[in-house]
Amino acid sequence: MINPYLKEDREYPLITIKRQAEQLKAEGHDVIDLTIGDPQDRTFDGAVQTIQHFMAENSVSQYPLATGSARYLEAVSNWAKRNYQIKLEPIKHIFSSNGSKEAIFLFALTFDWSDRTGEIWFSSIGYPVYEASARTVNAPIRKLPIDRMSGFFPDLDVITDSEWERCRLFWINSPHNPTSMTVDRAYFQELLSLAEKHGFIVCSDECYNELYDDQRPVCSLDFHQSDRWVAFRSLSKRSHMTGFRLGVVLSQNEEIMKYFRLCRSPIGVGTPTYNQEAGISAWNDEKHVAHNRQQYRQKRKLIRSALVNRGFEIHGGRDGFYFWLSHPNWPTAEQLCNLFLSQGICVTPGTVFGEDGEGYIRLVYCISLELCQKLCLRIEKID
Ligand SMILES: Cc1ncc(COP(=O)(O)O)c(C=O)c1O
Repeated sequence: MINPYLKEDREYPLITIKRQAEQLKAEGHDVIDLTIGDPQDRTFDGAVQTIQHFMAENSVSQYPLATGSARYLEAVSNWAKRNYQIKLEPIKHIFSSNGSKEAIFLFALTFDWSDRTGEIWFSSIGYPVYEASARTVNAPIRKLPIDRMSGFFPDLDVITDSEWERCRLFWINSPHNPTSMTVDRAYFQELLSLAEKHGFIVCSDECYNELYDDQRPVCSLDFHQSDRWVAFRSLSKRSHMTGFRLGVVLSQNEEIMKYFRLCRSPIGVGTPTYNQEAGISAWNDEKHVAHNRQQYRQKRKLIRSALVNRGFEIHGGRDGFYFWLSHPNWPTAEQLCNLFLSQGICVTPGTVFGEDGEGYIRLVYCISLELCQKLCLRIEKID
């Protein structure tokens, strides 16, 4: 009766790590918890003020539209035009989501997997939700191997035409969680051309796109002529609004958008109106995003230097707020975690993101500058 995937003995991997960190804190250890990508610096002030004002002014709370309000969609459309010079129309090409995670998870429900011929593809190291979603709907999956040799993105050239024919959804996440690696324009273009040729959809998970170091990484919204991508964006990271659950789905593929909207409407995922109001102020404001970028730049530089001094190898790490690390003297993820733990630093073993993450750890630095400085002092003591 019960979905066999849910009966497997496992827990959402990041929850397990978080619980371990909490346990150490409860035992009185002074732990620096770098396990979850949940920004600790201030939420965008404008969003907080807007929601307070909205709550004070409105005594009635009513159901939100499943697609998001006209004002929210308009703000997203203007943001896309301003930042990516792309013209996208509300509802037809854009609708709201409660953070990007639920939309990423629910997207697979839009398709028929019953004939078992089509597959959902994702990387062997990555955000666990793509697999959880595919396996919950019992869709056939393919994990594409990635490692340092492939630049932590799948090698598109080793896949044969007949293999591509089985791909229905291809998940890409650049800047990539957990490695912070990015793809270049040629890679993205090749992927979209393959999608065009073989009829699959590029599901582009882009929540870190605006947290870049010096140059904004390429993303789906840069490909104005293509209707093969569906983009999943979010205010969580760029505006430090994880608690608001505000995201958006964008695509020029009107057919896919129509069916995904239809799929979502009976689920009750309409984004609360007061949240959307806060979201409008955040999508409309670029200043705080530039400020957040600058803060991460500073933190990145500081921590990078401390890590390199202790002989760590940093793979990627230019964008987003993750470092993906290895060290020649400590070849397993467990050894690396214990090494950091010996200095009261909790990090995530690479294996949480897939077996190919063995040998690596992920270190999150969306923490305050003061804590970054404290962290660096502890890293210096790693031996
Ligand atoms: C790669 C990736 N995609 C999506 C999400 C979901 O973020 P949210 O639902 O807060 O938009 C996360 C959160 O950590 C993530 O790392």
